[in-house]
Amino acid sequence: MSEKMAHTNSSLHVEISSLKLENPTMLAAGVLGVSGLAMNRVANAGAGAIITKSMGLEPRRGFPNPVVAQVQGGILNAMGLPNPGIRQLAEEIQKIERKTVPIIVSIYASTPEDFAAVACEAVKSGAAGVELNVSCPHAETGGAEIGQNPDLVEQVVKATVRNVNKPVFVKLTPEVTNISEVAKAAENAGAEAITAINTVKAMVIDVETAQPILGNKIGGLSGPAIKPIAVRCVYEIYEAVRIPIIGCGGIVTWKDAVEMMEAGASAIQVGTAIAIEGLGVFKRIAQGIQAFMEKKGFDGVKEIVGLSHKE
Ligand code: FUM
Repeated sequence: MSEKMAHTNSSLHVEISSLKLENPTMLAAGVLGVSGLAMNRVANAGAGAIITKSMGLEPRRGFPNPVVAQVQGGILNAMGLPNPGIRQLAEEIQKIERKTVPIIVSIYASTPEDFAAVACEAVKSGAAGVELNVSCPHAETGGAEIGQNPDLVEQVVKATVRNVNKPVFVKLTPEVTNISEVAKAAENAGAEAITAINTVKAMVIDVETAQPILGNKIGGLSGPAIKPIAVRCVYEIYEAVRIPIIGCGGIVTWKDAVEMMEAGASAIQVGTAIAIEGLGVFKRIAQGIQAFMEKKGFDGVKEIVGLSHKE
């Protein structure tokens, strides 16, 4: 199949709430999602949608270096949510040439009111939707502290949904006893999709100096090492909610994407794989899904979603 076809083949189209994607691949939050030029490259590389780096109300510098460390099977990061502040975003979004690629703004805050305020600014900047980051494993405030408490998740989602007229996604942490309960709280509060999962809290120590490598000491693990955790979470959430699930965590190949869809994901996000495979990963995954559907005689991506739940 030609590269152009992977962009336009209608059997790859997916709808997440009111958002129309040309294919089910999305850029995950945190990777290349701040500057307009970088997001433009991702859109031209064939991503079906882009999730920005998490943005807050005010600019933030983030944690001291090193903020990233490579480990077996993945990458550990503790960036500390660095971002230029939500009000800087409009200018960057305008630089993206392919206007058909929905831009979903990832947002973080510490209170329901601030989530709503950042979401309003995001929508004013041209966001097609927002993804609430209630799951950063090393945020100083907010982050996974919110995502580990279904009541707080409900408050944050309710406040945001009340104030914006665009789809609201909620990105969950795997570090809970019952992820379905948190997903249901988000759905009941009006979320239109669940993204599962954020990184897994982790650490790496330099044996010579006997010191943690990351500036923040503790970070979040992403990449192939966490894929089975993500697949399990998506599988459990699929049994609990009716809204679409977006699978995220360790997806590198089209097979990883199909596995996540069979677990219950309607679309998938790619982050760490860009460091391993480069930006060609979006087209390779989309083309692989297309070839898989042709082999199986499927007419659309929907036919793959949740297949592992059927006997
Ligand atoms: O450190 C960071 O900026 C990471 C954020 C996240 O994992 O949500």
